[in-house]
Amino acid sequence: MLKSKIDKATGFEKRFENINTVVFENSGEASKAVAQEIAALIQSKQKENKPCILGLATGSSPKGLYAELVRLHKEEGLSFKNVISFNLDEYYPMEPNSINSYVRFMKELLFDHVDILPENAHVPNGLLTKEQIADYCTDYEAKIEALGGIDLQVLGIGGNGHIGFNESGSLQNSKTRLVALDHITRVAASKDFFGLSNTPRTAITLGVKKIMEAKRVILLAWGEGKANVVKRSVEDEVTNRVPASFLQEHNNAVFVLDKEASSKLTRINKPWLVEKVIWTDKLTRKAVLGLALQLKKPILMLTDADYIEHGMSDLLADSGPAYDINIKIFNKLQNTITGWPGGKPNADDSNRPERAEPARKRVLIFSPHPDDDIISMGGTFMRLQEQGHDVHVAYQTSGNIAVADDEALRFARFVIDYNEKFGIKSPEADDIYKKAQTFLENKKNSEIDIPEVRYIKGLIRKGEARATSHFVGLTDDQIHFMELPFYETGTIEKKPIGKEDIQLTMDLIENIKPHQIYAAGDLADPHGTHKVCLDAIFEAVKALKPKSFMDDCWLWLYRGAWQEWGIDEVEMAVPMSPDQVLAKRHGIFKHQSQKDGVVFQGTDAREFWQRAEDRNAETAALYQELGLATYAAMEAFVRWHY
Ligand code: F6R
Repeated sequence: MLKSKIDKATGFEKRFENINTVVFENSGEASKAVAQEIAALIQSKQKENKPCILGLATGSSPKGLYAELVRLHKEEGLSFKNVISFNLDEYYPMEPNSINSYVRFMKELLFDHVDILPENAHVPNGLLTKEQIADYCTDYEAKIEALGGIDLQVLGIGGNGHIGFNESGSLQNSKTRLVALDHITRVAASKDFFGLSNTPRTAITLGVKKIMEAKRVILLAWGEGKANVVKRSVEDEVTNRVPASFLQEHNNAVFVLDKEASSKLTRINKPWLVEKVIWTDKLTRKAVLGLALQLKKPILMLTDADYIEHGMSDLLADSGPAYDINIKIFNKLQNTITGWPGGKPNADDSNRPERAEPARKRVLIFSPHPDDDIISMGGTFMRLQEQGHDVHVAYQTSGNIAVADDEALRFARFVIDYNEKFGIKSPEADDIYKKAQTFLENKKNSEIDIPEVRYIKGLIRKGEARATSHFVGLTDDQIHFMELPFYETGTIEKKPIGKEDIQLTMDLIENIKPHQIYAAGDLADPHGTHKVCLDAIFEAVKALKPKSFMDDCWLWLYRGAWQEWGIDEVEMAVPMSPDQVLAKRHGIFKHQSQKDGVVFQGTDAREFWQRAEDRNAETAALYQELGLATYAAMEAFVRWHY
């Protein structure tokens, strides 16, 4: 299945690419195709009475693959009796039973559910003494060599291009060894370790050399977050700054991608440079805006020569001269700007993003975490309220894992002191406080909070969300706390979306019958909370579609704290004045538990209000660079047709 897809697409459209790449609609389909290839290999080795030597990876990328292999074992009888596996890496030091160990990961996701012999499943040992590591690594490689090398190596790719834990700077002939982890790798892992300070600094990894010697290498990459490093590895020069680029020199390697991870490849991002394209409105807009930004020219200043010199002469021949194309694209972009996100009453709406009627709309804003509404669309939220719409906000999850432990105790203590002062007797409150205190005082790294602590943490975030909504002007009956069950695991790892999540979402939509729904449109975040929250909404609107009120319901997507829509995608841009920017900042400040050293900082040292301001200012600056009006800030939206 993989092979036939590769063969189909090795033509000239791949001339920028130095590694085979196969793009699937989504990571689920891709994982199934990879599982098919692995199953076929295992079976062909079985026929020859030979072992099948697999190199395995951990991380989020291969999870779907392992689930499919387990299914093939359980439902289709695929046996792993002849499989001998070698995992790429393990943190060091690491207890095999710790929730973050790769031993545990592999057992929970694969080994415990198939018939692989335990002695055949190798994962580097995180319990060695430093002195033992060198010999251990030599032995790990010798075992692989004695078996004739790895038949098929599964890889993920780090944001910095690492494969295994071969970080930037690793040599192509590097051996299996103890390595120091890059800051960026540690930050990515820190969400599993509840903070950077608990995240290991070192790991044992298979060297690049053994990976390169594998007979077949399949690298999996999902989501927009990987798009840049995928392009870098596949199209740019081979360099040890990006170890995955070494695979350009492997004769049987393939990158298996979902649409989002492939989005920066030239054939996808700038297809007109690769082959003859049909210049749809969408593609024209993307190409023209890209050209203007690349040349640092306002749209209306682009010339025929600019088009010709940048591979767009056929567009010019079809729809030119440049001035005509420029005007068309300029007007399109101009029409995305509106100070009336709920539609402007009594105005011609033929070129506006939203309908004029009904003048007073019912609006439902879904916020995955308690602060996404204000961070991502606070200016629009305030405008909708000020312009007299009936605005409701629904907080989809409690966000209870992202509160610091001492904050939880501080708030719980407040209740105890308050009760004491006023002689209020509440054995339940005392009990929760005591349990939380004892637990938190003895809490070990990465330990999952007990329900009492989660309850307190959730309550803190609830109070902050309510404070923001009141600040915007909403009353309690317009604020909805959904506490979707998929989220309530107490860990970063969430349950998959379930019937109940969808039903709760449907019930709320049906109850409010909104004309507008706003949702966090983080489409490309394969395992994140935002994506699950969005899936619940997509499922709910699809199921409700036959109902007549849905004919009038438009779904607008905003982006979460981490990224913004591409300028060529934006369908509604809501400008903000300097005063509105300040008001939004104050709205974000209501989330005190998320200020000053939040639990999940990510790679970005800025606080959420700073990120939001920078991002909204950047969007406004892009409009200005393209030759449109100058605003202090802008929030961007894309309409989703369901
Ligand atoms: C895991 C490993 C790493 C990951 C990479 C991508 O065994 O060696 O190289 O493959 O960090 O991680 P995810 O898949 O979580 O994005």
